[in-house]
Amino acid sequence: MSTTPRIAVIIGATRDSRFGDKPADWIFERAQARADWDVEKIDLKSFNLPLFNEVASNAWAPSEDPAAINWQETLAKFDGFIFVTPEYNRSIPGALKNALDQAYVEWNRKAFGIVSYGSVGGTRAAEHLRTIGIELQMASTRSAVHIGGGDFFSVHPLGGDPKPLSSIEGSIGGSADSMLDELDWWVRATMAARAHELRAAAE
Ligand SMILES: Cc1cc2nc3c(=O)[nH]c(=O)nc-3n(C[C@H](O)[C@H](O)[C@H](O)COP(=O)(O)O)c2cc1C
Repeated sequence: MSTTPRIAVIIGATRDSRFGDKPADWIFERAQARADWDVEKIDLKSFNLPLFNEVASNAWAPSEDPAAINWQETLAKFDGFIFVTPEYNRSIPGALKNALDQAYVEWNRKAFGIVSYGSVGGTRAAEHLRTIGIELQMASTRSAVHIGGGDFFSVHPLGGDPKPLSSIEGSIGGSADSMLDELDWWVRATMAARAHELRAAAE
């Protein structure tokens, strides 16, 4: 088993004109700068997941849809996740909830951090995501990156003349570093615990 944490940055928005690529690229670069992680960007759009239509969560019955199985096999390769999510009607996008529902065991006992955005920093979406993570048996970092208020409108097309994400690094860089440091701790802790469990089962 590799000891280098494998981290996926998951872009939670799927619409063609999404803003989500901008924060996803920014946190991806920051995560990639850590020499002790393997980081990949995962675009939900490219998985073409159907709306959930299995007999049960894969906690109880193997999934049958090939797209769901491909999604599960992809998630299984990672030790931790950074969800980049907008706030849609005070929650996460339906596409991200569907993607979360399309796997179970592949999320279990792994850690995640959040980059959220919206007029109030996507905080309500982030809290919903944390609650979902409890049911998926995941550990959330305390710190998260919230792009909101004047920062949000200065980098989002809605504000006109959008600036690069780097222009608000003074506001969000510290929370990004905290979130990444905490994620590193939780990922290594859960990797060690999962490895211990595998060894115990083999004895
Ligand atoms: C269906 C929908 C619902 C939205 N609801 C909220 C909301 O509850 N709170 C908020 O701050 N922004 C809300 N917005 C504005 C989004 O923050 C903004 O459109 C953002 O760019 C969406 O992310 P995306 O471009 O990556 O899809 C909503 C946008 C959409 C399309």
